[in-house]
Amino acid sequence: MKPWQYHNPVAIHFGAGVVETLPQLLRGRRATLVTFPEAEAFGLLPRLRRLLGDSLAGVIDQTQPNPDVDGLDALYRAFWQQPDSGEVIVAVGGGSAMDTAKALMVGTGNGSFDALLALLATGKPFAPHRVKSLIAVPTTSGTGSEVTGWATVWQRAAGRKYSLHLPETWPEAAVVDPELVLSLPPGPTLAAGLDALSHALESIWNVNANPVSDRHAVSAAREVLATLPKLMQAPGDLELRSRMAFAALTAGLAFSNTRTALAHSISYDMTMHHGLPHGIACSFTLPLVLARAIGADAARDAVLARVFDGPLAQAPAALADFLERLGVSTRFESYGVDPAESERLIATALDGVRGKNFIGAARAA
Ligand SMILES: NC(=O)c1ccc[n+]([C@@H]2O[C@H](COP(=O)([O-])OP(=O)(O)OC[C@H]3O[C@@H](n4cnc5c(N)ncnc54)[C@H](O)[C@@H]3O)[C@@H](O)[C@H]2O)c1
Ligand SMILES: [Zn+2]
Repeated sequence: MKPWQYHNPVAIHFGAGVVETLPQLLRGRRATLVTFPEAEAFGLLPRLRRLLGDSLAGVIDQTQPNPDVDGLDALYRAFWQQPDSGEVIVAVGGGSAMDTAKALMVGTGNGSFDALLALLATGKPFAPHRVKSLIAVPTTSGTGSEVTGWATVWQRAAGRKYSLHLPETWPEAAVVDPELVLSLPPGPTLAAGLDALSHALESIWNVNANPVSDRHAVSAAREVLATLPKLMQAPGDLELRSRMAFAALTAGLAFSNTRTALAHSISYDMTMHHGLPHGIACSFTLPLVLARAIGADAARDAVLARVFDGPLAQAPAALADFLERLGVSTRFESYGVDPAESERLIATALDGVRGKNFIGAARAA
């Protein structure tokens, strides 16, 4: 076995009702709550207001799906202009709310978002002028953003996306309470669950994989394959919600150390130009990417074989069947992308930063 290292500094609190421990986790510090707009109507925001009481310094609930530079600019300025926003951000929501919080927590010298964007545009690490702590409370069971140190910031107008990743942007704690996910509608439940499956598989066919990420990934992928179809039939089942929350968390632990690979590299274009939700965009190509991964590296094949029952050669077809049964087409044409464009898209994705993490990149290029 080659030498390897694994690092994840996030304290994990898991279980139904565990959100009630937020006041203890704040340890007397004041916090700004960052959440999704529907949290008020679902009764979640009133509950959090009561729970946090005087520790609550402010609420930002106008977060948008796939946080875009356009909307973040105003949120960021308002947040950093406020004299008492507290030491902590508590992010309660899906990947969009948690990634918004990660962008907000990194303070620039003049409090302007443009300054942060300029730093992100360099693609290099930088030392933040000031920074808040983050407690992440996921409500979609998908992105794993509660245990990763990075966030995606979109700029649709320019057809670009930025990746924020600093030692300071790891959450200090992840509070994973499956009860909070019970209100999530079927569409986002499916997309989030498939995002978790994608994180697990992408961390296996990845040049950065290690035995710890593999353990997490195999268990997460097997759990999603077994649980997601049942959950789609019984979205109010807390036991199934718990299993998906745990699968998404463990997939997050896997890819927190490997990053993603080809399926995510392809997804960015599909989200930006074809409007696909992240979880669908990064999962409908999983059978195609799996077929390219098999045979690239015998050790990776052995790990993939632990995910799928039956001969590995049949796994791409079985995975396509799994997705189609959930109503997710695995064909580019279904999303308005013709074969010539899909070939170009895959070639560009292989050349992207995430594409280069893919073990089959050299062979496929
Ligand atoms: N940082 C990371 O590690 C990471 C990883 C994967 C994806 N992402 C990002 O995450 C985003 C997608 O996140 P997502 O799939 O969690 O979806 P999301 O956060 O966009 O949420 C989907 C929808 O569900 C609503 N919602 C969220 N929780 C709810 C609940 N419990 N009940 C009812 N409605 C609820 C939201 O308001 C939104 O309308 C993308 O922007 C993607 O780039 C980040
Ligand atoms: Zn993802």
